[in-house]
Amino acid sequence: MASPSGPPADFYRDPAVIQDPHGYFAAVRPLGAAFVEPWHGSLMVTGHALVEEILRRQEAFSAAVAVVGPIPPPPFAPAGDDIDAQLEAHRGELPWSAHLVTFDGNRHTEFRSLLARLLTPQRVRANEDYLRGLADRLIDGFAARGRCEVMADYAHRATTYAISDLLGIPEEDRSQLLALLGPPPSQIEGDAPHKVGPDPLAFLKPFFDHYLQERQAKPRDDLLSELLAADLPGGRRPSLDEVSLLARFLFGAGQDTTARLITMGLKILAEEPDLQERLRRQPERVGDFIEEVLRFEPPVKAIYRIARRTVEVGGVRISAGTVVALCLAAANRDPARFPDPDRFDLERADRDHLAFGKGRHACLGAPLGRLEARVAVERFLARLGPFRLDETRHGPPQARRFRFEPTYSFRSLAELHLEFAPPEGAP
Ligand code: HEM
Repeated sequence: MASPSGPPADFYRDPAVIQDPHGYFAAVRPLGAAFVEPWHGSLMVTGHALVEEILRRQEAFSAAVAVVGPIPPPPFAPAGDDIDAQLEAHRGELPWSAHLVTFDGNRHTEFRSLLARLLTPQRVRANEDYLRGLADRLIDGFAARGRCEVMADYAHRATTYAISDLLGIPEEDRSQLLALLGPPPSQIEGDAPHKVGPDPLAFLKPFFDHYLQERQAKPRDDLLSELLAADLPGGRRPSLDEVSLLARFLFGAGQDTTARLITMGLKILAEEPDLQERLRRQPERVGDFIEEVLRFEPPVKAIYRIARRTVEVGGVRISAGTVVALCLAAANRDPARFPDPDRFDLERADRDHLAFGKGRHACLGAPLGRLEARVAVERFLARLGPFRLDETRHGPPQARRFRFEPTYSFRSLAELHLEFAPPEGAP
């Protein structure tokens, strides 16, 4: 793929990198913890400590390009050693700029603290019974067939229904919303027309505005009603538009990433019958298993920042306006941090992976994502006998075939076909 002597492959566009990002990261590791790639001029950061450092240095790095990084390039030609004024003048034109994940400074702190107050671990735990029941209902749908395709038969639905339930979205709308969501951002082929612009989730606005208006008239016991009733830390009540944006982001942000985590976890188990058997005997270790999946194959391969000024980072000087790719998947396998990083190890003592980011923008849905993944794996293990990959779809062990979604930001199996013995008495 890439060799230290030749130019590295194009991280953003090369289909071989989509297929094997870890091969790419291993090839560029000798270039240091950070290097400027020649295709788009972004700084690729692969070292664990350096990713953490950049996430801390908000005075120097803005989250304005957090979701899609250098593509498309910023709508201005960076001038001089400080681009703060240019960034603010053009912020509203950047992709995803209407959403929390790209906010900086006070505006970010205000809206984040509103969500953090409501999306508490206690609230998530209170949903555990619902999640178990949901998992069992979905498994009922395919158990007798002796086979399933995890993404379509389970993961997409389980994760959409989980966040819908928390928000209070009516059952009858959920499959329509699921279909509308379509492909993920940073998709490099096919058309994803609604995935660009400041609010790529605008197509959900009529639904969410309607749900919020209903709750304005008559509050219910759900997160949407609480969002409407909560004040920002300064005391201002957010407008319906602002709440609708937050709710749409929560709805859009959490489900695909969690679906990817579930699917990847089940792929690893399908290929490791001994590990599968061990977790069946020791279900209390499923939480540790999920943490190691998050380290080993994080659903978000990279997040992005833009240098507000000319700075030196990891020994590399970059000019103001340089886009920085924080390669979480590489940091999670940094040999300076994790011994034997390419080994999947349930017993690993250090689990300080960066799959949920870190610092001011760290994932607010991590407790929910973790719980959904744990429940999924627990119920698959408890409900189905030993499961394995369907070799007619994924090939024999020495020549496995997997299709990944063509996105540079996410690690996303497009499909995962499993087979298992149907339960006795099944038709
Ligand atoms: C396994 C599943 C998930 C993974 C791997 C994941 C990953 C991430 C990452 C890496 C970030 C940091 C982005 C950045 O710093 O640029 C993030 C932010 C965020 N995530 Fe998640 N996420 C997951 C599930 C969820 C769920 C279920 C929700 C909602 C309930 C959610 C809501 C959010 C929000 C609101 C932010 C923005 C926080 C901020 O900007 O302050 N995520 N997520």
